[in-house]
Amino acid sequence: MRVERNIAMNPIPLPIIDLRRAAAVLLLILAAAFLAFPMTEGAAQTVNPTAQSVQEEMLFEELQGPIAGRVSIPNERAGTLIAPENRDWSNMRRGTLFTISMVAIVGALVVLTAFYLIKGPAPIEAGRSGRTILRFNGLERFAHWLTAVTFIVLGITGLNVTFGRRLVLPLIGEDAFGTLSIWMKITHNFIAWPFMLGVLLIFVLWVRDNLPAKEDGPWIRHFGGFFTRGMNIPAWRFNAGQKGIFWAVVIGGAAMSWTGLVLLFPHLAETLGGWQTAQSLHGVIAAIMVAIILAHIYIGSIGMEGAFEAMGSGEVDLNWAKEHHSLWVEEELGRGAARPDTPKGSPATASR
Ligand code: HEM
Repeated sequence: MRVERNIAMNPIPLPIIDLRRAAAVLLLILAAAFLAFPMTEGAAQTVNPTAQSVQEEMLFEELQGPIAGRVSIPNERAGTLIAPENRDWSNMRRGTLFTISMVAIVGALVVLTAFYLIKGPAPIEAGRSGRTILRFNGLERFAHWLTAVTFIVLGITGLNVTFGRRLVLPLIGEDAFGTLSIWMKITHNFIAWPFMLGVLLIFVLWVRDNLPAKEDGPWIRHFGGFFTRGMNIPAWRFNAGQKGIFWAVVIGGAAMSWTGLVLLFPHLAETLGGWQTAQSLHGVIAAIMVAIILAHIYIGSIGMEGAFEAMGSGEVDLNWAKEHHSLWVEEELGRGAARPDTPKGSPATASR
């Protein structure tokens, strides 16, 4: 396989529309949307604001506690008229989960947009070399895009559960929202399977390169040199930041998979409370993962010159690779006792 080839064959860079201006508008819209939605709207009330009489107020207070009786059918749970823990769970979904998701996702978008406006894309400091090195082979790219595409579909269809009733329903009406939500739910339940396969593949392919290394310490201390122009911290195939993304995807993906399976097959949770815990965890972990992945997508696309090619054609510019993964480049080129500037066609061009 080749390490080097002519720059003329590199993919065309991402289209440049006035991205900064577009990003500024997006930032304003997001900030406005964030402020416009009351976070706890829709959560069940514990005070009755419309009580007309003392009796009504007393009845309302009475209904806050558990109310259970006896039933003569085998299903004993049918004897419970009001179970406060179910209301707590419902409040958690409509209040706390909504707030956490909103803050995590909108917060990440605002921070990334601001970062882009202030700093702009990180350039290849030395400019493009005109030679490329194979970074990810076909199987690795397949595993990445399988996980990425399914994650995005799961994110959109899943967030409809958290946000849809308050953000989408008022825009499209009940009928359309009902149909949309049913299709989203079906899509979500089916796409979960290829996502699990993707996470498993990613784990198997990349776990070896994502184990801790002593070089991770300096990378973390200097935040990868991301805020200091010209500072490149030596790293192997994955730097400490990427290792963080990898483990977030693997551990978060496993947690999402398990809690999702519990939601699909409720008997896996022995009690109703267990099922409710799985549901809450599924929502909270999803929001955190979406926020983390938004940052990853930013760096892998518009945030860093030359990065996308790693998952596009699979080959990155040699200067990009030297600046971000110098130890890995040395190792790769050293495999054939080669030097980085070895001319095209030499034995050193053998790569992964
Ligand atoms: C759709 C937008 C996405 C883009 C443009 C993108 C881009 C990239 C790029 C360029 C790399 C290679 C970085 C390098 O060469 O070092 C990468 C790696 C990776 N991606 Fe993505 N990605 C996207 C979505 C996702 C999603 C949704 C997930 C998982 C849920 C994901 C998980 C990973 C993992 C685990 C790695 C390896 C670790 C790392 O480099 O951070 N990616 N991605």
